[in-house]
Amino acid sequence: MKLVTQTLCLSLALALSYTHHQAGHQEGGHEGHGHTVGVMLDRCDGLEMDAVAVNEEGIPYFFKGDHVFKGFHGKAELSNQSFAELEDHQHLGHVDAAFRMHFEDRPTEHDHIFLFLDTKVFSYYKHMLEKGFPKDISEVFPGIPDHLDAAVVCPAPECEEDTVIFFKGDEIYHYNVKTKKVEEKKFEGMPNCTSAFRFMEHYYCFHGHQFSKFDPKTGEVHGRYPKEARDYFMKCSKFGDTTDHTERERCSRVHLDAITSDDAGNIYAFRGHHFLEQDAGNDTWSADTIESEFKELHSEVDAVFSYENHLYMIKDDEVYVYKVGEPHTHLEGYPKPLKKELGVEGPIDAAFVCQDHHIAHIIKGKTVYAVDLKASPRVPVKERSFTLFDKVDTGMCGPDGVKLFKGNHYYHFPSVKVMLMARAIPEEHKTALELFGCDH
Ligand SMILES: *[C@@H]1O[C@H](CO)[C@@H](O)[C@H](O)[C@H]1NC(C)=O
Ligand SMILES: *[C@@H]1O[C@H](CO)[C@@H](O)[C@H](O)[C@H]1NC(C)=O
Ligand SMILES: *[C@@H]1O[C@H](CO)[C@@H](O)[C@H](O)[C@H]1NC(C)=O
Repeated sequence: MKLVTQTLCLSLALALSYTHHQAGHQEGGHEGHGHTVGVMLDRCDGLEMDAVAVNEEGIPYFFKGDHVFKGFHGKAELSNQSFAELEDHQHLGHVDAAFRMHFEDRPTEHDHIFLFLDTKVFSYYKHMLEKGFPKDISEVFPGIPDHLDAAVVCPAPECEEDTVIFFKGDEIYHYNVKTKKVEEKKFEGMPNCTSAFRFMEHYYCFHGHQFSKFDPKTGEVHGRYPKEARDYFMKCSKFGDTTDHTERERCSRVHLDAITSDDAGNIYAFRGHHFLEQDAGNDTWSADTIESEFKELHSEVDAVFSYENHLYMIKDDEVYVYKVGEPHTHLEGYPKPLKKELGVEGPIDAAFVCQDHHIAHIIKGKTVYAVDLKASPRVPVKERSFTLFDKVDTGMCGPDGVKLFKGNHYYHFPSVKVMLMARAIPEEHKTALELFGCDH
């Protein structure tokens, strides 16, 4: 009994210090009425998000207090900058739940983002509040309670019918969008969700700073969950020292900083403080810290390309050059200024050399430069304006052509020439699943 009491006390103490820690970020407010003016929320602190929804472009919005984090990295913004009318309803507190309606056969609601605050629901289309909103939740979603915890859209056949799943405590409500019928369920074995979202056809329930992937029909959780949200859905550089780096990096949805394959066909992919490596002829990926193999570079590289058995690693305005080997060795005299070495001003987005060539293709914003690596001095020549993407994260070139990476997707072009001439974005591929072989 004594042991139980002690354990209880310890958990309580931990819970309290956790709450206290959170409260520190909610200056002058209770949870739920958090006015965080002047206080910087840091998602890497282990925040419990209030709500998550994915916008029309597939970018997740994580709501916390009166702020929203867009995408998987970067700072919080005030939610009322994107959803202006929230300003007039501050007494309602924070966003409890959010989802984007996504049913093409329901044009009046398709791609609307629904925000739930207290007893009210707001419907936004392209960041404009729909006429007549906010409305009572009971009016728009009859049978669905107020003060929700989470909501997620679930199209057929992932759910039996086109459905929105609402969460409140351990109560689950399957709301049929066509018939408006509500089916109450219990998801045994699943924690109470504080936010939930559908991402790349998978369903995630967030609880605290952890998440579980669940089956939207039954609530079953398969595999090793919960996992740490900061490992998979946020770019937190110093985080997760005790977890499995390889599984985390393969399955992370956070964008890559850089990727390249060397002359032998080994592939290296860089993200934050870590890199993934796949050796030629071996399907297995393994992850390590950048520090461990590229000590001088330390972390957070902008672009990497491989040329004549060397890795050219570009970070801000500098180039680091490593001779490929075990271990990789940093060349004497480097890092050198990027401007001197390649004639281009940093920062750049992507750089790659195609096999058996000596031209580095450098993407910087909406321009592609060609740099002849055999020339001296090296002078960039503008190849073309490249407006297919606003900005790419990285790119690589191999025997099968060019892959450009943006967010958690990549796009394949049979050659640089085809890439430069392309008028439309080709089919998107899922980096975690299709390149790194992550199974979820
Ligand atoms: C957003 O809310 C903050 C306080 O939460 C307020 O200071 C600011 O004026 C609001 N901005 C807009 C655009 O309404
Ligand atoms: C989950 O929610 C129910 C109320 O619906 C509550 O009784 C229970 O304590 C909650 N569980 C946890 C672990 O918070
Ligand atoms: C493939 O790579 C993994 C991880 O680096 C290693 O453990 C394994 O032995 C390699 N397999 C072969 C066939 O080389």
